[in-house]
Amino acid sequence: MTTLEDLKKQAAEKAVELIEPGMVVGLGTGSTAVYAVRALGEMLQNGRLSHIIAIPTSEATATLARECAIPLTTLNDHPIIDLTIDGADEIAPNLDLTKGLGGALLREKIVAAASKRNIIIADHTKLVDKLGSRAPIPVEVVGFAERPLTLFLESLGARVVQRMAKDGTGNPFITDEGNLILDCHVAPLDDPAVFAQAVIGRPGVVEHGLFLGLATQAIVAMPNEVVILSR
Ligand code: A5P
Repeated sequence: MTTLEDLKKQAAEKAVELIEPGMVVGLGTGSTAVYAVRALGEMLQNGRLSHIIAIPTSEATATLARECAIPLTTLNDHPIIDLTIDGADEIAPNLDLTKGLGGALLREKIVAAASKRNIIIADHTKLVDKLGSRAPIPVEVVGFAERPLTLFLESLGARVVQRMAKDGTGNPFITDEGNLILDCHVAPLDDPAVFAQAVIGRPGVVEHGLFLGLATQAIVAMPNEVVILSR
């Protein structure tokens, strides 16, 4: 039986075939992106690919990439990325996305904005008609503004849940950039840009998990085939 993990791996392995020698490659975060990082590492080890350099979107991905002997650089040294491969929590028909359940949305969005091509990899359960249907919209905020921003996001109609660390300590989840995440459970969004604009304009908000107009293609593994969706 094909599991969701098999499907994530299939999408990831298809995506890494797009990487060519000489490229600066953005490496995403999350359980699907892990398969892409491992596949890229294998291609470099067995000589199928060479002369690439990569920029990770999180400390977790950086650690995995080092384990896989993938050469890393920084956005400051390589500010233009040829191709980024990353996962998503929701993919709308126009390839707008919700991202950030893995907590790396800020660096992911910075990397996506610096990339010529953004390839999204996912299993078919991530496909939605409207963003907000199956995942909350994560909003990264500075700690100083947590309570007023919770009230503000509630005033936009969201049910707001502060993300907690998964280590059982009861402490808040802290992002790689030292911020908090407020997960906004919303009714499916008819126009995500309206929510995005309202949120990003508020002092103390660092970034949100709506990735609008950023994805170039989505490689989606269905139970019986892998399909490539383009904008
Ligand atoms: C990480 O912050 C996220 O944006 C991930 O890309 C997203 O949550 C997808 O993760 P999975 O591949 O684990 O579903």
